[in-house]
Amino acid sequence: MSREFDLVVFGATGFTGKLVADYIARATPQPRWAIAGRNKDKLEALGLRVPVLVADALDAPAIAAIARRTKVICTTAGPYAKYGNEIVAACAEHGTHYCDLAGEVQWMRRMIDAHHERAVASGARIVHTCGFDSIPSDLGTWALQQEMIKAYGTPATSVTALFGESSGAISGGTVASGMQTALEASADRSIRKLLGNPYALDPDPHATRPSAPDESSIGWNSQLKMFTVPFLMAGINTRVVRRSHALAGFPWGQDFVYREVMSTPGSARGLAMATAIAGGLAGIAFAMKRPRLRELLAKRAPQPGEGPSAEKRANGHWKTRFVGVAGNHQLVYVAGDTHGDPGYGSTAKMLGESALSLALDPLSAPGGVTTPSVAMGQFLLDRLRRAGLTFAVAG
Ligand SMILES: NC(=O)c1ccc[n+]([C@@H]2O[C@H](COP(=O)([O-])OP(=O)(O)OC[C@H]3O[C@@H](n4cnc5c(N)ncnc54)[C@H](OP(=O)(O)O)[C@@H]3O)[C@@H](O)[C@H]2O)c1
Repeated sequence: MSREFDLVVFGATGFTGKLVADYIARATPQPRWAIAGRNKDKLEALGLRVPVLVADALDAPAIAAIARRTKVICTTAGPYAKYGNEIVAACAEHGTHYCDLAGEVQWMRRMIDAHHERAVASGARIVHTCGFDSIPSDLGTWALQQEMIKAYGTPATSVTALFGESSGAISGGTVASGMQTALEASADRSIRKLLGNPYALDPDPHATRPSAPDESSIGWNSQLKMFTVPFLMAGINTRVVRRSHALAGFPWGQDFVYREVMSTPGSARGLAMATAIAGGLAGIAFAMKRPRLRELLAKRAPQPGEGPSAEKRANGHWKTRFVGVAGNHQLVYVAGDTHGDPGYGSTAKMLGESALSLALDPLSAPGGVTTPSVAMGQFLLDRLRRAGLTFAVAG
């Protein structure tokens, strides 16, 4: 593919976009890249010595012109259900690879239905969820399965991801995206139904698949001796892991089951933490279904462009444990970052490395609306390890 740029960071003026642009600016060797967005002055004020491309996300011809000039568009302009349609359409049409931080399952379903076939034909790898949602889940499960096969000659028939110790906060764009999903769900019953479908992102979301209900109460993980509690992001991540498995042709068996929870220590304090988290989640779910409470929450939350301070990001961290089981065999795998909060510091590394991988690595995966592990697998794993993230069998 001979194009003027290896990659374009679109939405570089946003809270996360700035972090991703800074990350790419420090990459060695430097790719041929540019920043893009709707506001020329704001883009130039970032002080990055790279070309500036100006386009509104809703201006289809302007977006198509960018898609034709670059191998990859990496976009942080969200909510994606508002600002993502034209970018995905242009990338699928022009064979341009694409990565984002979308967590809006209903929108990703729309992109699959509208653009998967065209992306297969054009060779464009369209990869949503290249941040904390859902790279730890997706790549962690894939990596654990490679280790299971190496150790026991067979993949795990069930994997449980337990999201444990972490420290971080959220940004205005993330709040706006959550509100967007809540708004669409409250207005449309078919979207509520889709969001409740554990296989919402599978090629065929209505095929008969193993039962995999979302976790709804406090539990106990006997392998790790930890309490478990529903995880807010599981409704996104589990759908992505299941899409990966389906796109790969079900290599872990038709009965493979993936679950995802938060974990707290197996002590009295851990139980108290689990109870508090479950209560908080129930409160959020209650508020999101009521327009006035939703508005109140949105007003008090960070606004677009705002997010956690540099200090909070640098001191942030996260750790996810994966338990894979195949008959009597069991393997525990760990993913994490000790130098980056999940949503921003670490996410900038994950999205930045995804963009670099799509642009520069000799990937062989086919085009389509795909997933991080299917599109980039081992290449991305190696990159993230070099970037300081942990992906390893538990010691
Ligand atoms: N998956 C994850 O782990 C993860 C982590 C972090 C963030 N996210 C997601 O990333 C997205 C961004 O979050 P954020 O907090 O960085 O948002 P933000 O600070 O509000 O930034 C939004 C960006 O979109 C741009 N934009 C808005 N409307 C546009 C338009 N019509 N044309 C072109 N550009 C437009 C804004 O440009 P202006 O500067 O000109 O307004 C800005 O650059 C959200 O969807 C969030 O959920 C996901």
